[in-house]
This record gives sequence, C-alpha cells and structure tokens, in this order.
Amino acid sequence: MRSFTGTSRMAEREEPVRLAIFISGRGSNMKTLVQACLDEGFAKPVLILSNSYSAAGLEWATENDLPIAAIDHRAYDDRESFEKDVQDTLELHNVEFIALAGFMRVLTPWFTDQWEGRMINIHPSLLPKYPGLHTHKRAIEAGDKEAGCSVHWVTAGVDEGAVIDQERVEIMPNDTPDALAERVLEREHFLYPRALQKAISDFLVRELQNEAD
Ligand code: GRF
Repeated sequence: MRSFTGTSRMAEREEPVRLAIFISGRGSNMKTLVQACLDEGFAKPVLILSNSYSAAGLEWATENDLPIAAIDHRAYDDRESFEKDVQDTLELHNVEFIALAGFMRVLTPWFTDQWEGRMINIHPSLLPKYPGLHTHKRAIEAGDKEAGCSVHWVTAGVDEGAVIDQERVEIMPNDTPDALAERVLEREHFLYPRALQKAISDFLVRELQNEAD
C-alpha cells in the first residue's frame, strides 16, 4: 500500500474540501472555522445548516454570503425523516465533510454511519470525561483541577468517537460554570480550526489510500 500525507493530497486536489457547518445557536465556533478556511484554504464552507430558524449564527452567515439552510426538526415526526431532509440538502450542495459546531440535535446511526470518518464535533469537556450536557458544572462539582474542550470524530454514541485534539483550562477556586464556560470557549476557538485541518487531512489521506487499494 502506498502512503500519502494530507498536505500533499490537498495540493493534488484542484478544489478544497466542501464543508458544511451545523449550528443551533450563536455560532462563534462556526465563525472561527469559516475564518480559518478563508485564511488557510484547506476547506470551503459551502453550507451553514441549522435545525432552528432563529439561530443567531445564520444571520452572520447570510451577511457573509454563505449559503444557509434552516430545517426545523420540530416539523418532523421522527429523527430519521428530519435527517433525510438534511441529507438531501447536503447532497444538493455536494458536501464532503461536516463540522458540528454547537449543533444541539442527537443524530441517529442512520445519519452518523453514512458520515463516519467525514464528520467531527466540538465538545466542552476533556472527553471521555463528561459527555452530554452541563459539562462545566459537573467538572466543578467533581472537584476537578482542570477542564477543557475536545474535538472528536462523530459516531453513533453521543460524544463517544475518537478524540482528535484537546485544549486544557485550569479550574480556579470559586469558579462558576459560566466563568469556566467563557474561558473554555476561548480555547475552543483556538482548538477547532486546528483540529478541523487535521481531520480533513486524515480524511484526504484515507480517500487517496482507498483509491489506490
Ligand atoms: C460550544 O461550547 C460547543 O463546545 C458546544 O456548544 C457551544 C456552542 O457555542 N457544543 P457556539 O454556538 O459555537 O458559540
């Protein structure tokens, strides 16, 4: 089997990887990813998708001429029919890779299986500690000395996929969940662009190896 580096693979492709970013709220991580794509050119944001029409990040995306899609999950009877419309929208935009950035819907195996190795998420804890919600409160209550954030591959188990990269933050005496969340968010903005670039590089290497096998 031949081996390839992600960087050489990026150089071989004429077009950057077509990226969709999924959000549910303000989208501060989305902004850092979009900026990194513009600065570094390793991916092209071709779609900002939200499960909520009122996600503030959609407004920013529109102002910045990024294609958006709002698909309200509440209009569907079950998760899979929502995901089928999401999938159709991704196909319409020829999306190759997905970054979840504050996307607050659990995805079913129907969706995660077809995007395995092509979808990542950012989570505000040092995984495998504290998957799920209220991570900062749980870390403080447990008496942890440090918290942080992780970017991981998305699999069927919520916040269970392999960790790509992490950033650590010290927990101060008398810290509050909100104060800690703010400091962790700063590190998220530093971590996510770096981890996305690494994940896309790994994806491209795998893609080329599959072609060569
Ligand atoms: C971040 O803390 C992220 O780790 C979590 O949801 C929050 C989203 O924030 N999954 P933003 O919408 O990117 O500002």
